[in-house]
Amino acid sequence: MASSLPAPVAERPRVTVIGTGYLGATHAVCMAVLGHDVLGVDLDEAKIAALADGRVPFFEPGLPERLAEALASGRLRFTSSFDEAAAFGDVHFVCVGTPQAPGSHAADLRYVESAVEQLARRIDRPALIVGKSTVPVGTAARLAELASSVSPAGSALELAWNPEFLREGFAVQDTLHPDRLVFGVASPRAEAQLRATYRPMLASGTPLVVADLATAELVKVAANSFLATKISYINAMAEVCEATGADVTILARALGYDSRIGSRFLKPGLGFGGGCLPKDIRAFAHRAGELGVGHAVAFLAEVDAINLRRRVRTVDLVRELAGGALAGVRVAALGAAFKPNSDDVRDAPALDVARMLYLEGASVVVFDPEANANAHRAYPDLDYAGSLAEAVDGADVVALLTEWDEFREANPAALGALVAHRRIVDGRHALDSERYRAAGWELRALGRPSPQRAAV
Ligand code: UDX
Repeated sequence: MASSLPAPVAERPRVTVIGTGYLGATHAVCMAVLGHDVLGVDLDEAKIAALADGRVPFFEPGLPERLAEALASGRLRFTSSFDEAAAFGDVHFVCVGTPQAPGSHAADLRYVESAVEQLARRIDRPALIVGKSTVPVGTAARLAELASSVSPAGSALELAWNPEFLREGFAVQDTLHPDRLVFGVASPRAEAQLRATYRPMLASGTPLVVADLATAELVKVAANSFLATKISYINAMAEVCEATGADVTILARALGYDSRIGSRFLKPGLGFGGGCLPKDIRAFAHRAGELGVGHAVAFLAEVDAINLRRRVRTVDLVRELAGGALAGVRVAALGAAFKPNSDDVRDAPALDVARMLYLEGASVVVFDPEANANAHRAYPDLDYAGSLAEAVDGADVVALLTEWDEFREANPAALGALVAHRRIVDGRHALDSERYRAAGWELRALGRPSPQRAAV
C-alpha cells in the first residue's frame, strides 16, 4: 500500500536488531536496557538459543550481566524468523557483518544486502530500516531504493544510516554512552524516528550529528582510517627509532603531551588488527579508487604496510633472541586475540606472528586467557596451552603479543624458573623492562634499543 502521505513517527518504537554478533547482540541488549521492546534476529539458531538462554556466545565484559537484566525485564526476545521481525518492528537495525571479500580489498556486502532485502520484502507498513554495519559510501542510497522497491509498503519504508563506533571490550559502555550519535537520513521523518528511538541518550546530552546518507557512511570509515593512521604513524617512528637507537616509547610519551596530538591511539607495538580497522582501511581505499579519488587515500596502503611490517619485525626479534634461526626453537606465544579483553582473533597480529614463527620451523605454544578456542579454530596446527605457566614451560623464547593484565602482572622471577632460557620479546610495551632485566631476562621490544645497542 504505497502512500504519498508522510507516515507517523512511532514515539515508542518496537525495535528489531538483525545480526547478533559483537555489534548486534550488544545493540539489542542496550536498546532493551534503554526501555525499548526489542527482537534480536539471527539465522544462526545456536546463537539465538544461547542468547535467549542468557548466554553471550563471545567474550565481552559486562554484557552477560546486561543480557540477564534485559531478559528479566521481558523487553528482549530473539528469533530466527524474518516474518516475525517484519511484523514486530517499527525500527529495524541492521548489524550484520561486512567482512573483506575473498581475494579482494572490497567489502563483502552480501549479508547486508540480503538482510535488507529479506526484511523489506516482508514489511507492509510504515517502518524505518537503520543500517549500522560499516559499508562503502554509496551503499545506503542503493539499499534505500532496493528496500522501497521490493517492499509492499513502498516509500513508507525508509532507510537511514547510523554508524556504530563501539570498541570490543568496552562495547556496553560505548553503546550506552557514545561520544556522539550520527544520523544519516534522507527525510525529516527518518530523523524524527531516530530521535524518538535514541531519546534517552539525547536527553542525557550525547552530541548528535545529522547528515545525509553518504556523509554518515563516510564518518565511520574516516574515523577508523584516522585511528589506523595514528597507530601506524607511531609505528613508523618505531622503525626510525630502530635504525638510530632512539626509544619510541619515550618519543610517544613526549608527543602525547602535545594536546593537539594526544596520547590515545599513539601506543606503539605490534599494531592494529581485529574485525574493523584492517578491513575498513582496505575497503575505503578500494571504494575511493572506484570513485576516481584513489589518490586521496593512497596513504592508507602505506598505513596497512607499516602495520604488517611490525609483525615481521616481531618475528625478527624472536629469531635474534633465539640466536639467528627458529627451526626447532620452542616459543611461548602469549596472546592470540587482536587486543586484550576480547576473544576476537580476526586479523589478529598476535596470531599472525605465531603463525609466521611456526612456518619458520619454531615449535609454538599459544596461550590466550579467552581466545584459545577461536584461535584453535583458525589455526589448528599451532599448539595451545591451558595456562600461562604451561605455555612458558621449557620455552627458549617468550613472545608477549597481546597485553592481557595476566601477562603484564606476571612475576619475572617466577616465569624465569619455568623457561629454558630467559629471553622475552615485548611486542606491546606492556612489561617493566628493568624488572625483567634485573631478574636475568634478555628483553627486546619493538622500537626500543637493546642494552648492547644503547651502550654503543
Ligand atoms: C575499532 C574502533 O576503535 C571502533 O570505534 C570501531 O567501531 C571498530 O574498530 P576495535 O576494533 O574494537 O574498535 O578495537 P580498538 O580498541 O580500536 O583497537 C584496534 C587495534 O589497534 C587493536 O589491535 C589494538 O591493539 C591496536 N592499537 C590501539 C594499537 O596498536 N595502538 C593503540 O594506541 C591503540
